[in-house]
Amino acid sequence: MAVRARSRRRPAPWLSLFLLMALLACLGSLHLATRPPTGRVFTPQGPAAGALVSPPMRSEIAVTTGRDGTYHPPPSNQPPWIVALQGHYLAATRGGPVHLEPVPEDHPETPWINPAPGTSPRACGSCHPAALDQWLGSPHQRSAAGPLFSALLTPDIRKIQKPSPWRLAKNYPEASAACVACHAPGASSLEAELPAVSILGGTHCDLCHKVKDLGPGTLGLTHGRDLFTLARPAPAGRPVVLGPLPDSTRENVAYSPLYKQSLFCAPCHEGTVLGAPVYTSFSEWQAWGGNQSCQDCHMPADGARHHHHGMTAQLARKQGGLRTEWSVQRTPTANRVRLSLRSEKVGHALPTGQVDRHIFGWLEARDADGKPLAPLERSDMLEPWSTGMDHSVPGFLLARWQEKERPGPTPFWSPGGTWRDTRLLPDQPRELEWLFPPEARSFHLRVEHRKAWPAMLQSLDLPLQGQVLVDERK
Ligand code: HEC
Ligand code: HEC
Ligand code: HEC
Ligand code: HEC
Ligand code: HEC
Repeated sequence: MAVRARSRRRPAPWLSLFLLMALLACLGSLHLATRPPTGRVFTPQGPAAGALVSPPMRSEIAVTTGRDGTYHPPPSNQPPWIVALQGHYLAATRGGPVHLEPVPEDHPETPWINPAPGTSPRACGSCHPAALDQWLGSPHQRSAAGPLFSALLTPDIRKIQKPSPWRLAKNYPEASAACVACHAPGASSLEAELPAVSILGGTHCDLCHKVKDLGPGTLGLTHGRDLFTLARPAPAGRPVVLGPLPDSTRENVAYSPLYKQSLFCAPCHEGTVLGAPVYTSFSEWQAWGGNQSCQDCHMPADGARHHHHGMTAQLARKQGGLRTEWSVQRTPTANRVRLSLRSEKVGHALPTGQVDRHIFGWLEARDADGKPLAPLERSDMLEPWSTGMDHSVPGFLLARWQEKERPGPTPFWSPGGTWRDTRLLPDQPRELEWLFPPEARSFHLRVEHRKAWPAMLQSLDLPLQGQVLVDERK
């Protein structure tokens, strides 16, 4: 009896702990509420909600302005603070009211800033040498002048008489107008006769760092430059550079969270071109549903405040890509070769990008005298159209292509075929198997990435070569 009475009077220990914590929380919020806000942020439209306020170079402890534009000091109590709001120049403050200036409307007559040091006081490369170094020679730098791209569109190709469905410029002289928005986003319309555009016609620093927003338009159907809202100031106006940093002390820079999002890359990396689904990396990335952005994988952090600006498949392959594991089981009746394919740390189909890109692998079995042996079962064979060899070989193909009357790719710009897709998807490994005669002694696996189909390369007089990804013997 006595025990029960006592337990009714005294609260359980967890309850007293809870009450104490609730009291502390009330006191804390009372303290915050009575402390006057440090400052208030405005845009020309009125109080700015959701602006970030942080000590210089320390946005990890930023505070956010409330609905009325007020904020309390960031935890590190030392002004000045940097105020950042999408669509506005960064501003420094020591407290009190801050009036943010919107980034300018676009003035297409303003020339692009050349990044090469020495060309002007605003040449990006003078102050950002690492970014310049990485960008020079990258696919973005030569997006209007890559060898394959140029060969497809070059006027000389129009003169070659031997007919081939793969000569875009010859079969479709107006095609280049469909390529300008992504490949020559910096070209003026006068300059747009591809592929003769200058380096500032390509995907350069000033172009990528003048992006204010996306739209109007439809992602996938409105391409590259035409889907970006740019912010080139009037020739004598206040300069601007937009980027991902909300806490920079640099003058004339503006913050945009878009630079950290895959959506930034989407206007150029998602596109139905001449009626075909030629670029689908962004929608593949959406279907993947992982939590890394294009930038996380393709622009890895490169020091405290720098991201790698090379953006090549080559660089990405240092982190992930195609993984192959294979084994040979030798028995008196046959040699069984098992191969497993896996896509590792790739946030889209493998391969992705321009539709003609493909990866193929083939196996070679030889007897004791080095004579090549055909497999016993013709299960997975590669036809000559995919390899450029003169006979079929045991192997596999990861590709997306349009097929008409016979097997093999037709140019994406010739409508009316059936699309086939054998690419490797994230989290969907593939197991393959071949049987070879018992005389087979040595096995050779080669995997290669090619940018275009053999028929296309041959018709453009380009070498039939790619990047070797795997070269192993057992
Ligand atoms: C005179 C030197 C100088 C020149 C020229 C220059 N920058 Fe910068 N830039 C800086 C400095 C310094 C910062 C601040 C870096 C930081 O806060 O970590 C900066 C910051 C930036 C940022 C980040 C801004 C943000 O808020 O995200 C971008 C993007 C940028 N610059 C791009 C460019 C581009 C593009 C050009 C050429 C059109 C250029 N810069 C020219 C010195 C320069
Ligand atoms: C203005 C259009 C444009 C934007 C924006 C753009 N790209 Fe590209 N990108 C291109 C073009 C065009 C190429 C192909 C250039 C060539 O090889 O001819 C390319 C090539 C690439 C490649 C090269 C693959 C290879 O062949 O090695 C990668 C990777 C890439 N981009 C990633 C990105 C990422 C990540 C972003 C966003 C941060 C981005 N791109 C934004 C147009 C763009
Ligand atoms: C999880 C990491 C990851 C993410 C996220 C990612 N990629 Fe990739 N990407 C890779 C890897 C790894 C490769 C190299 C694959 C290979 O070996 O061909 C690659 C290759 C590419 C290529 C080169 C295609 C080729 O065959 O030359 C392009 C273009 C590309 N990615 C664009 C993008 C775009 C655009 C996004 C965002 C929509 C994106 N990637 C998101 C990891 C990633
Ligand atoms: C294809 C578009 C593209 C091109 C071309 C490009 N940048 Fe960037 N840049 C970006 C993106 C996207 C980020 C944000 C990366 C992140 O934070 O993940 C960025 C970030 C930056 C930053 C902020 C610091 C950092 O590295 O994150 C600076 C500075 C910068 N770029 C300068 C340059 C310069 C200089 C050039 C030319 C040599 C250039 N950029 C070319 C897209 C581009
Ligand atoms: C929606 C934007 C967009 C349009 C429009 C576009 N491209 Fe591309 N193109 C790209 C991107 C992004 C890449 C790089 C993708 C990759 O690395 O696989 C690329 C890569 C290529 C490549 C491979 C370049 C190389 O050397 O690796 C060729 C060739 C090419 N495009 C031709 C064309 C032609 C021809 C047209 C016009 C008929 C065209 N593209 C229209 C965005 C576009």
